[in-house]
Amino acid sequence: MKYPSIKTELPGPKASRLICEDKKFVSPSYTRYFPLVAEKAQGAWVHDVDGNVFLDFTAGIAVCSTGHCHPRVVQAIKEQSDRLLHMGGADFYYVPQISLAKKLSSLFPDGGNHKVCFGNSGAEAVEAAFKLARRHTKRELNIAFFGSFHGRTMGALSLTASKTIQRTHFSSFVPGITHVPYGYCYRCPYKHDYPQCGIECAYWIEDTLFRTIMPPEEVAAIFVEPIQGEGGYIVPPPEFHMMLHKIAKKYDILLVADEVQTGMGRTGKMFAMEHFGIEPDIVALAKGIASGLPLGAMIARSEIMDWEAGAHASTFGGNPVSCIAALTTIQLLEEELMANATVQGQRLMKGLEELQGVYECMGDVRGKGLMIGIEFVKDRQTKERAIAWRDEIIHSAFQKGLLLLGCGENSIRFCPPLTITSEEVDVCISVLDESIKKVAG
Ligand SMILES: Cc1ncc(COP(=O)(O)O)c(C=O)c1O
Repeated sequence: MKYPSIKTELPGPKASRLICEDKKFVSPSYTRYFPLVAEKAQGAWVHDVDGNVFLDFTAGIAVCSTGHCHPRVVQAIKEQSDRLLHMGGADFYYVPQISLAKKLSSLFPDGGNHKVCFGNSGAEAVEAAFKLARRHTKRELNIAFFGSFHGRTMGALSLTASKTIQRTHFSSFVPGITHVPYGYCYRCPYKHDYPQCGIECAYWIEDTLFRTIMPPEEVAAIFVEPIQGEGGYIVPPPEFHMMLHKIAKKYDILLVADEVQTGMGRTGKMFAMEHFGIEPDIVALAKGIASGLPLGAMIARSEIMDWEAGAHASTFGGNPVSCIAALTTIQLLEEELMANATVQGQRLMKGLEELQGVYECMGDVRGKGLMIGIEFVKDRQTKERAIAWRDEIIHSAFQKGLLLLGCGENSIRFCPPLTITSEEVDVCISVLDESIKKVAG
């Protein structure tokens, strides 16, 4: 079995020097969980500049869906780079953009009745959805959820309600957005128990919001992550999205699924909303769509994407190299990786649940496919958040060569490449076991 290999102190000498330079020249607004300076990577294994080898359960924040530098993706990028690097998809036509739009459209149940607007990132995909929803409905108000993360451009940031640091001194925000509690059963905002709760988290929108301060006929869209990502890998109750969908339909409100983190096979299905049995009106995609090349896509049914020429576009959006990377990524997902996400997700979940039987501090283990989170608590009864323990566990795992990321206030997320093997899952569980024992055992 292959294990991480840590040969130097961390950070090693080369990494330390580079981090000093980085501090001098790169924006201090970036959050770095640990001092890793990557040099090369393959599959789920990352080599740093000092020759240390790490097992990666972050996939560049759920981006490297096909693993780092998948040979077929790299080959496709090389071939496309020889043919055409850029043309400007908003002004000209080229085959990769048309082919990718057609392929993405075919992934929806009615197979081909969707149109795609390309951008370069998750925030841009959400931003485009925000603009389209207003323009199509001619309505100004929107609903989003506490704990949500939709990106950092002003529209997307106005929808985001994750951490105050992301908003501090950036106001004023885009007006007309109301945030409501998400379906978070472990910490139910209404202190109910599922399923006796009647899914009040969804019902409240119609029962209270629409009766008091928010006229539903003025609401353009509800923006929702199928599973909250940055907010803590929170899986809502099974009926939650169905109820949102029903409310949206009743008042001609658009339901926008932000699948930037959950989409492209991560949860074992192409789109996480498939787990909840609903089809949203608009979908935002990015991250895993192109295995690491920058690409965002906002997809809507053709009758909704009815804006005129000039209404919205991007110079780099739908770049031919990114589109080819995305087409190859989707092929790999359909051939085997989505199925692998289900199989290895179950193995990872089982391993984590076994650890939960041992460690009191693992308050909640939740997720779908290879999108799994653990919420750490000081006490299972009070559910007091164990923020410092969470940070120390991530740090300890790093020292042992396992890369993990936090999410929410006190959770760790597991979002490895979808190529992950049983052996790699077992190594992750074993390193995590040692780290939790050391910090909170
Ligand atoms: C659900 C969701 N939406 C939007 C974004 C923003 O994506 P980007 O960082 O590519 O702009 C993220 C990024 O983490 C995300 O998780």
